[in-house]
Amino acid sequence: MSARLVVLASGAGTLLQALLDAQRDPGFPGAVVGVFSDRADAQALVRAGRHGVAGEVVRMADFADRGAWDRALADKVAAHRPDLVVLAGFMKILGPEFLHRFPGRIINTHPGLLPAYPGAHAVRDALEAGASITGASVIWVDEGVDTGAVLARTEVPVLDGDDESSLHERIKIVEREMLVRVVSELVRPQRTSSSGIRT
Ligand code: GAR
Repeated sequence: MSARLVVLASGAGTLLQALLDAQRDPGFPGAVVGVFSDRADAQALVRAGRHGVAGEVVRMADFADRGAWDRALADKVAAHRPDLVVLAGFMKILGPEFLHRFPGRIINTHPGLLPAYPGAHAVRDALEAGASITGASVIWVDEGVDTGAVLARTEVPVLDGDDESSLHERIKIVEREMLVRVVSELVRPQRTSSSGIRT
């Protein structure tokens, strides 16, 4: 049976698209069952709709405070009974009330080689620092900003003449492949031998 994936995305949703494309392969062990965005204009919601996946906007501005938004979003995500929650270009920080509902089940993908360049402007920060190598990371989400344990990282060279947009587009190419691989590895059913050892 496919693992149930819930994806949170704020923008173009090309990382979400990579997961939606991957699940066309019957060997892929997961399926996106719900998509949430904090932005009504997120293209990610359109992509979800095209694939027949439920998509919903949960805007922070519609709630009294961050905690109320966290709780409402957590309730909606929980209704999909996710095995894994994937932050794929989700540009809001999730608070403890959300995180504690899905312990050990939330991952994030980030356009920087963490722990270098955390935060919302990783690509710009790498360029401004004069980095010759940057990349992408997939991490477990904890209460810090991009401080969770690293699951995978891929390097991307910074080329002469790169600007934020060209570099980010090249990073996203490796990021999509890496996210699909990490999700697949995390949710793939493990066989347990009679000795109790995972094979
Ligand atoms: C990705 O590069 C993702 O790592 C980044 O937003 C992009 C989303 O691309 N996320 C962050 O910066 C979170 N701090 P997409 O909308 O095309 O999937």
